[in-house]
Amino acid sequence: MSDLLPFRDPSLGTAERVADLLGRMTVEEKVGQMLQLDARDDLRDHVLRRHAGSILHTSPERILEANRLTAETRLRIPLLVGEDCIHGHSFWPGATIYPTQLGMAATWDPALIEHVARATAEEVAATGIHWTFSPVLCIARDLRWGRISETFGEDPFLIGELASAMVRGYQGEGLSDPTAILATAKHFAGYSETQGGRDASEADISRRKLRSWFLPPFERVAREGCRTFMLGYQTTDGVPITVNDWLLSDVLRGEWGYTGTLITDWDNVGRMVWEQRVQPDYAHAAAAAVTAGNDMVMTTPHFYEGALEAVQQGMLEPEAFDAAVARILTLKFDLGLFEDPRLPSPGLDAVVGSGAHSDLNLEVARRSLVLLENDGVLPLGGAASLTSADPIRVAVVGPLADDAQTQLGDWAGGSGQAGWLDGQPREMITTVLDGLRAVDGLAVRHAHGADILTLEDDPLGATFPDGQPRPPVVVPAASDPRLLAEAVRAAEAADVVVAVVGDRIELVGEGRSTATLELIGGQNALLDALIATGTPVVVVLLASKPLVLPASTAKAAAVIWAANPGMRGGRAIAELITGAIEPSGRLPISFARHVGQQPTYYNQIRGQHGTRYADLTQAPAWTFGDGLSYTTVEYSALGLVSSTLGADDTIIAEVTVANAGSRPVRETVQVYVRDVVTSASWTDKELKAYRQVQLAPGESARVRLELPVGDCTIVDAEGIRRVEPGAFELLVGPSSREETLLSAAFEVVG
Ligand code: NOJ
Repeated sequence: MSDLLPFRDPSLGTAERVADLLGRMTVEEKVGQMLQLDARDDLRDHVLRRHAGSILHTSPERILEANRLTAETRLRIPLLVGEDCIHGHSFWPGATIYPTQLGMAATWDPALIEHVARATAEEVAATGIHWTFSPVLCIARDLRWGRISETFGEDPFLIGELASAMVRGYQGEGLSDPTAILATAKHFAGYSETQGGRDASEADISRRKLRSWFLPPFERVAREGCRTFMLGYQTTDGVPITVNDWLLSDVLRGEWGYTGTLITDWDNVGRMVWEQRVQPDYAHAAAAAVTAGNDMVMTTPHFYEGALEAVQQGMLEPEAFDAAVARILTLKFDLGLFEDPRLPSPGLDAVVGSGAHSDLNLEVARRSLVLLENDGVLPLGGAASLTSADPIRVAVVGPLADDAQTQLGDWAGGSGQAGWLDGQPREMITTVLDGLRAVDGLAVRHAHGADILTLEDDPLGATFPDGQPRPPVVVPAASDPRLLAEAVRAAEAADVVVAVVGDRIELVGEGRSTATLELIGGQNALLDALIATGTPVVVVLLASKPLVLPASTAKAAAVIWAANPGMRGGRAIAELITGAIEPSGRLPISFARHVGQQPTYYNQIRGQHGTRYADLTQAPAWTFGDGLSYTTVEYSALGLVSSTLGADDTIIAEVTVANAGSRPVRETVQVYVRDVVTSASWTDKELKAYRQVQLAPGESARVRLELPVGDCTIVDAEGIRRVEPGAFELLVGPSSREETLLSAAFEVVG
């Protein structure tokens, strides 16, 4: 009988089906439809009593159980199933885990990232999950923040390019494609602008600053059709984002015309009551959240009771939920869930962790590696090929040389957010030690060298008031003389040392910001001792975020930043070290010399007394855009087709890029714009475009660069983004470092 109801008729359009179903729902069912609840709790209660519209953090078995439960409900509305699949299908045993988002950002390659997102969507969709909470569009500025690895780094333009590629990859050709999943732009907006890096603290950020740097990547993906947005935890200027009418209604839905679905972050509605204390109870909090235009409420079970009470007390009309419920149902109809709930597919094993995805993973890992220093020691063996007859003796040293799960980083099997697995299969992961051992012509000796940390229970208890686990307290490990001596012996007996150091998951992620940026535990002492042996040391920094290396590394032979390079990372690093591939990654984020320099992002606002601290330079150790190759690249003859332009014109420039060395290169030609005089204070230069070119040894190319004058904007004191006529400079080169850039002046008239 019910199959004849209009909302069950696939020949009708989504709007008609939504209207029909909405008309049949009780207030209780509507309120429940707005809830996304944790599938690890009482699923029966979620689905049958609270009428939940969505679940998250679902083990493979629980997806099926939840689906069985929806069959018992009156209207049999299918569930939306969400998960944080942010660099691969994080918590599915045997799924492909790619480099973290920050690692991927170092490729500067939207097409590659789109492929990763497409491949991830294929794996995710095959396992019965419809919605990933990715990508992260937060701007990473204070390196102490625990969630730097989830971002695309510090530059709004690069973030916008890479995030929109990811959204396209996830959502594919449209939601009716069975391999499409919903993308989520998060965390809207300004969540990363913490105080002192402390996670989810008040973001002290003006509307003009939001419009200048923090909102543009979100606007870009909104226009790209990203179907969902997640709202940050934090308050800004006193107002939780969850109820920030200006941001949600005026800007997002008003100015940008966004018609997608909003989801709160974890218990944002409850946090207004128990944490931020800006609402007296759940009825008021629910009323405020609904009135502000939230659609889906993540993991605030009491939203159900609160919202119903708000109706009883007259704070909300019974129709107040209709717009939100309509948007949620629209997603479900557009995904076709009423016809096919997209349960785990019988053929999923052929898709999840497939050989093709593993190959793609290796490629993105290769491209994510950033060579920061090289005195010529790399590639090992130089131009000569490695032979097993005369092997190079390599000491592979350090606590992360063979730590398979740490290599995967946050939001991966072992990172702790899901309880049903404690890591990804070891055999799918190549550590640096595995990778180097597999190379013919190397004689590898391994030493652990140092421990990083131990853990103690937080005296405040194992969980936060919302039931989320409270991270344990990290105690840095003391340097162990026995481990150190063993490592030094290995180094002394070697031709070269590969020292793999960095951070561990206990120092990364939500609620795990760090007060320091130094390598912790015995790692600094280890590097000091290894470098003191005189054997050339290649430092492989396997670190979720930029860390501060000890002074001794000024004498390291080479430094590679590998972020968390995913399952194939160790092989990619071995290939880089041995010259089987060329280094091509570029920093999407600057490295500080000292934690006290925070923040070190390149596009800071002009104007301050002096350029340094009394006791330290302000210059970062390595800055945005930096990265070496195994060859020498020369830039010359930057020229503009026209240097007087109107606001609707396009800047057309050409620059000669020459590979003057003996190895091939993939060069990232970076284009920055300087607005010489602005009506309001502004950054000295901003990345506006880039191109990647491949050049054989000795080859040169005239690279054409195009940039609409309309992109050369500032946000004026009234908060309006516009091009201000006057003098500009186009800056082109291999990095954001001023001394590496060629400059061409142009004038915008009219
Ligand atoms: C909280 C995190 O802030 C967010 O990024 C994530 O998507 C949700 N939890 C769900 O796990």
